Amino acid sequence: MITDSTVCEIRARVETTVSPKRLRHIQGVVALCDRLCRRFALSPTAGAAAAWGHDLAREWPESDLLAWALRDNESLDEEHRAHPVLLHGPAAAAVLRAEYQITDRDVLSAVRHHTLGRAGMSSLEMVLYVADYCEEGRPFLTDELRAVPNDWSLPKMVLAVASDAGRRGFPIARRTTEMVADLTQRLKETEAHV
Ligand SMILES: [Fe+2]
Ligand SMILES: [Fe+2]
Repeated sequence: MITDSTVCEIRARVETTVSPKRLRHIQGVVALCDRLCRRFALSPTAGAAAAWGHDLAREWPESDLLAWALRDNESLDEEHRAHPVLLHGPAAAAVLRAEYQITDRDVLSAVRHHTLGRAGMSSLEMVLYVADYCEEGRPFLTDELRAVPNDWSLPKMVLAVASDAGRRGFPIARRTTEMVADLTQRLKETEAHV
């Protein structure tokens, strides 16, 4: 159970340690994450912890990212080794666990996988993935992307984000490909039951 005071502590850390540009992004993610948590009946407190914490390590040097990511109990991928900046998710999850005693698996997993996604994402994981990409401050936000968080189901939103990221030329990691295949399958099954 995550308390409001834990969220306040994470927020205070972030507000005093990240650059103004990063802080504006995180504030945008917090706002969109809150909106989506309420829409999908998820805990706004869990959402706030994940959103405030997700990029707390984004500006760290690679050596710190690696040291913390290795404490995260999860195996690292080739992509992580090739692009250590991607370790800011696993590193932030490790910090939330070690320094803020967060044990909520959804929150830790949402933070850990907010950049690449993974197969088998929970609703909160999908919410953070979408909020990270579609928050108001993103310079690449188009009207189409801005509309993504409004009406669709979470799997559809995630697929729209992944396809936009692919179009934009972001390299597609193995985990992202697995996420897309998993969500495409889930959508097919849902539609078959309607
Ligand atoms: Fe990030
Ligand atoms: Fe982010």
